Amino acid sequence: MTTLLNTIDHVFAKKVCSEHQNKPDELLEILHEIQVQEGFLSDRVLRTVSKSLNLSRAEVHGVVSFYHDFKKEKQAENVIKICRAEACQAVDVDKLIADVESYYDIKMDNGGGKVSLETIFCLGNCALGPAVLYKNDLYGRVTLKAVQKMIASTKGVKEQ
Ligand code: FES
Repeated sequence: MTTLLNTIDHVFAKKVCSEHQNKPDELLEILHEIQVQEGFLSDRVLRTVSKSLNLSRAEVHGVVSFYHDFKKEKQAENVIKICRAEACQAVDVDKLIADVESYYDIKMDNGGGKVSLETIFCLGNCALGPAVLYKNDLYGRVTLKAVQKMIASTKGVKEQ
């Protein structure tokens, strides 16, 4: 079904491709720009990009699937990215994850809802693990209490 919303994302995707002269070697930049604007990459957008760049849909889907940061579905309004690389593992990031999952009744890498948790590998804050990225701010030595504060400070999200 065509709605005004997915027509707009289609038009925007065409515009971005055109600004990049429809160059296939600029696929990553194009996808990134579209995702920043739209929040995710819909199937319709990916079809538009593949047509505009004269790439197969499999090639475009392959790139989107390969890079963890490209999203094919609408994301939660508040995404907490938690580092699961070695240094953070060493300071028991798994306990932090279990605490947050349990407190908010959410699952890691499960998307949706007002708040979601996403795995990320190394934020360059290894000496201060567990490290978390939230709304482009980096946090170190994060505890459940710190996560509760982050979420409570976000307008429109009520602390549970
Ligand atoms: S290992 Fe977690 S920030 Fe580097």
